Amino acid sequence: MKIGIEKIGFYTPHLYVDMNKLAVKRNVEPEKFTIGIGQEKMAIPPITQDSVTLAANAAFEIVDEKDKEAIDLCIFGTESGIDHSKSAGIYVHHLLGLNPHARAIEVKQACYGATAAIQMAKGHIALNPTKKVLVLGSDIARYGLNTSGEATQGAGAVALVISADPKILELEEQSAYLTSDIMDFWRPVYSDKAFVDGKYSNEQYILFFSKIWEAYKEKTGLELKDLEAICFHLPYTKMGLKALRTILDEGTEEDKERLLENYKISTTYNRNVGNIYTGSLYLSLLSLLEQKGDLKEGSRIGLFSYGSGAVGEFFTGILQPNYREYLRVDQHAELFSSRTEVTVEEYEKVFQETLPTDGSTIEFDIDKDPAKICLSGMTDNMRQYVNKMN
Ligand code: COA
Repeated sequence: MKIGIEKIGFYTPHLYVDMNKLAVKRNVEPEKFTIGIGQEKMAIPPITQDSVTLAANAAFEIVDEKDKEAIDLCIFGTESGIDHSKSAGIYVHHLLGLNPHARAIEVKQACYGATAAIQMAKGHIALNPTKKVLVLGSDIARYGLNTSGEATQGAGAVALVISADPKILELEEQSAYLTSDIMDFWRPVYSDKAFVDGKYSNEQYILFFSKIWEAYKEKTGLELKDLEAICFHLPYTKMGLKALRTILDEGTEEDKERLLENYKISTTYNRNVGNIYTGSLYLSLLSLLEQKGDLKEGSRIGLFSYGSGAVGEFFTGILQPNYREYLRVDQHAELFSSRTEVTVEEYEKVFQETLPTDGSTIEFDIDKDPAKICLSGMTDNMRQYVNKMN
């Protein structure tokens, strides 16, 4: 039985800041952000978007009535969840109107959460081949104004329908993974901003990649020549490139050229959104599939997932016949082109807006947010969500 990705949805908020302009305000050379870090635009979530609404908007565009019946498991991977107890998956389950006889949960392991969800989904489909699993990777990356991590913030979500009818990418069985207790990036429960040891995190990312890649080759006997492209978890687009460069000498000139070209294409969306933590790897996959018109059906794509703390995994998928028919290239082009640029001052203002923590009521003007699903306010310590399409 084939198991894999049947559909991919994506959402990012309608506001962004230009990295060149942010660099000027922070007194750094724009090339540091655009070349050294590799980011052009950074998505800015308005107060009316959180990890729940981002995920719900990403899923809303792909889940149809048949899916709603067949999805009996919704796994929400996030590291910017909104509640220490109740799972973000339940809100999305409600906002989409999924089958009540479904399970809805949240999983956490930094940026690895959605990969963990996909692996669980595979097991679930193997046991229940007529069912489908909705996997969500949704986050708002926040390091703080004027911090070294600021240029690597972002916001967005990816939604994947995993099933035994993988119209886009069949996920292969074997994968290699690694866990090690390190402190490269973390967010204590009392903080709404992440702490990061940036240089150490870069080193660990590459170390994980190299150990896992060796383990993967040993397990499968596959080599660089067997991969059409490798997509990476991208906290910023230069990061994956640093990791990729460490293995390129294992291949021929042709392998190098192909992998570098496809890497570049796979970073197009991430460059213009920023870090979306759990969804970043899958945004990179989406970027490759939607932006590269001539990827051959049957090609093998490598995927490297890394979640600080840390867990990493390398796995692969095979592109399915006519996979392009199941992508939403035009809708995603429209999502990007309809965004509005904000000034650095406006971004700073939005960044500092917070929800009440004293139980008071607040209502937002959700007409200002073009998203279909929004956070409309708070009352009695409960977030209020609206699906404008209902
Ligand atoms: N032109 C081109 N490149 C430039 C430049 C210029 N004018 N000025 C600086 N650079 C390059 C630097 O050489 C460096 O490249 P290198 O990494 O290849 O050496 C890069 O820009 C970044 O500069 P650096 O001084 O290292 O930046 P920084 O101290 O501000 O930190 C990060 C950058 C990425 C480490 C920081 O933003 C961070 O910690 N982000 C979070 C990362 C993360 O999310 N990790 C956890 C999840 S994996």
